[in-house]
Amino acid sequence: MSSGEWAPLPGMADLFSPESELWHAVEEGAREVFSCYGVREIRTPILERTSVFARALGEGTDVVQKEMFSFEDRGGRLVSLRPEGTAGVIRALLRLGAAAGERVFYMGPMFRAERPQAGRRRQFHQVGVELLGPPSPMADAECVALMAHLFERWGLGGVKIRVFTRGRSADHPSVREGLLRTLEPHEAELCAECQRRRSTHPLRILDCKVAGCRTVVERLPPMTGFMSAESRGYLEEVSRLLKRLGVPAETDARLIRGLDYYEHTIWEATHPALGAQDAVAGGGRYRIEIDGGVVEGVGFAVGLERVILALSGGDAERFARRPTVWLVAVGDRAREENLVWAQELRRGGVACGLDLAGRSVKAQMRAADRSRAVWVAVRGDDELAAAACRLKNMATGEETVMPVAEATARLRAGA
Ligand code: HAM
Repeated sequence: MSSGEWAPLPGMADLFSPESELWHAVEEGAREVFSCYGVREIRTPILERTSVFARALGEGTDVVQKEMFSFEDRGGRLVSLRPEGTAGVIRALLRLGAAAGERVFYMGPMFRAERPQAGRRRQFHQVGVELLGPPSPMADAECVALMAHLFERWGLGGVKIRVFTRGRSADHPSVREGLLRTLEPHEAELCAECQRRRSTHPLRILDCKVAGCRTVVERLPPMTGFMSAESRGYLEEVSRLLKRLGVPAETDARLIRGLDYYEHTIWEATHPALGAQDAVAGGGRYRIEIDGGVVEGVGFAVGLERVILALSGGDAERFARRPTVWLVAVGDRAREENLVWAQELRRGGVACGLDLAGRSVKAQMRAADRSRAVWVAVRGDDELAAAACRLKNMATGEETVMPVAEATARLRAGA
């Protein structure tokens, strides 16, 4: 049943072991890092009013224009599945009366109706962080360092971090004008999409993948030339602080982000193992106005599918959780006693597997092998009579007969 009406929708996937175990490890690692930074979890609805995203991300962005799953709900409201986390989190924090200084993280599914391809899904998952507060190079540097710490905790080497600036909000009109002015002589060389972008989202031209546009973009002066000294100084300060924090980040004048809420610092992290969709994370400082309130902060989101892909190289098997012990029964009486023993072990925190289907000893040993259990404990009538078991180390093959109570204590202590 891999196709047809029982297959998941395009760009959506079922998740199961061993990948689900790797996901868990990644999420737990993230929680551990967040607790060191005083970042607390926030959970917001997956479905929001469309206006929340349109206002926060920008009406003209690709995400809002083309990629949202939007529909009218039963109450006649226009709603959308969240395409990212920041907008909903800011809405929630505004409503909860949260102030500058609030530090939150979120994990969960996001939805974008993009053309599915390797590393690009319609339902994907992000781990994101938002640190509220006014512009401050120190806060931005801390946020990038927090992201780098996550990669380190996950053991994901080879990540490249590029940083640039969108300039303070007051500089945005002059950047736009400056860009349009320098593009003017090259108008005819731009692709049809970029022709359109000139009146909607000129900055996106800097990111166009079409060869003709790239040639034009290569020759443009860096956008910092159209920014104030304050904006340029801010970027320099962030870069200096990142050096002090030991975060290897490169300044890239061609870096742009696809969402409108950014001002000052923007960044992206890429991984070489990912191919065309190589961005593992993106973020920046933002200023969001919704519902009459203004929220300033800095944050980022990591794409979990991409982290998992880069970590496992397609082989997640090695991350699978294994039981500590597998109980093998010789005969029906031992099977029932094993069920009782398994419950005791599990309630004591020992991961334990056993066969309840009445299979042969040989089949049970095969199951133990497949489970990659560290130990196997065998009991038959003789062992039951002596309140003992045969405990076998699956790595060395060494087998010891010992009282069940001793085996229980050893397994609980990590054997
Ligand atoms: P974003 O760059 O749109 O930023 O997404 C962040 C990450 O989510 C990307 O780098 C990528 O790893 C992953 N991602 C995005 N779209 C897909 C997709 N279709 N399939 C798989 N992975 C995907 C944001 O979403 C901002 N909210 C980040 C932020 C937080 N900025 C400030 N605070």
